[in-house]
Amino acid sequence: MSNELKTHPEIIYPEVAVNTYKPNNPVEVPVLENRLATLEVSPNIIRHITLDVSGTELDGNIRSGQSIGCIPEGFTERDGKPAKVRLYSVSSPSRGEDGKSNIVAITVKRVIEEDQHTNNLFLGLCSNYLSNLKPGDTLKITGPSGKRFVIPENANDFNYVFFATGTGVAPYRGMITDLLENGFGNQVALIFGCPYRTDLLYYDFFRELSVRHENFHYLTSISREGTRPDGTKNYVQYQLLDSREVLQPIVSQKNTLIYVCGLKGMELGLFQVMAREGFSDYLRIDEEIRDKPPSEWVVEDLKKRVRPGERMFLEVY
Ligand code: A2P
Repeated sequence: MSNELKTHPEIIYPEVAVNTYKPNNPVEVPVLENRLATLEVSPNIIRHITLDVSGTELDGNIRSGQSIGCIPEGFTERDGKPAKVRLYSVSSPSRGEDGKSNIVAITVKRVIEEDQHTNNLFLGLCSNYLSNLKPGDTLKITGPSGKRFVIPENANDFNYVFFATGTGVAPYRGMITDLLENGFGNQVALIFGCPYRTDLLYYDFFRELSVRHENFHYLTSISREGTRPDGTKNYVQYQLLDSREVLQPIVSQKNTLIYVCGLKGMELGLFQVMAREGFSDYLRIDEEIRDKPPSEWVVEDLKKRVRPGERMFLEVY
C-alpha cells in the first residue's frame, strides 16, 4: 500500500436509476425464496428474501447500496390509514443475486418487541408481513432509492472499510461482491457487529470470500459474549483498536472510504474512536470544538458538532 497520496482522488458518483416506481405506482413482483440469513437459528430472526423483478424496469437497474420500498398490502397503520412504504436495502450485488439481474434480495429482521408499560407484544408490521411471505406470493415494491450510499464509479481508486451492525450489513453483501468479483486489488474490510454468534449474518458467505481474497478482511464484534479487557462491550468501533494491525494501515490511507450502516447511535462511538486514534480527517468537526482534544468530547459534542466528512458515508436508522 502506498502512503504517498496527499489527498484523496475525486469521488465520482455513478448514475443510478431512482424512483422508477413510486408509492402511487408500485410494481407487483413474485417472491422466489425466503430463508434465514443468520448462521444458526436465533431469537434474532433475520430473513433473506429474494424477488423476481423480470419484465420490470428494475431488472438490471438496481445498484447495490440502493434500497427498494416494500408495501405491506392490506395492512393499516395505527391511525387506520393504509400501510405506507418501508425502505429496505438491497442485499444482492448490482449484477443481481447469483449474477441474475432479474433477482433482487432484501434482508429483513422480524421486529418483535414488548411494550414496557403494558407487557403487550408488538410485532413490526412490515417486517413480519415480509418475513411471512412464501415463495409464489407477490409483493408490491417501489424504487430504487438512494444515490450516495454506493460504490463510486471509479471504484478502483479507493480502499473500503465497511462498518455494520445487524441488518446494516445488507448493502455490503452486494457492494463487497461487486468489488471482489471485478478483480479489485485494493483493500476491503468489513466489521460486523451483532449480539451473539448465532446472529452472524451471511457468515459463511463472508468467511468464504475472505478465504478466497486476501485483500478482504472480515472482522466480527460479538457484543454479548464477554467484554473487552477494560470491561467495554465488543462494539464494531473498537476493532480499530483491537484489530489495529489489520485496520489502521488501511484507514490511514488517503484514498480509503468508510461506510457505516446500522443502528442509529453507532456513529457516535465510531466518531470518538476515530478522532482519538488520529483519523479525524474523515470527520467534519465544528469550529467550536476544533481545539478540544477528542478525549474530552462529550456526547453533546459528538451529536451536534461532529459529522461525517467527504470520505465517510452514513446510513443509520
Ligand atoms: P448490544 O445490543 O449488545 O448493546 P442487532 O441489530 O442484531 O441487535 O445488532 C446490533 C449490534 O450493535 C449489537 O451487537 C448491539 O449490541 C450493537 N450496538 C448497540 N449499540 C451500539 C453502539 N452505540 N455502537 C456500536 N454498536 C452498538
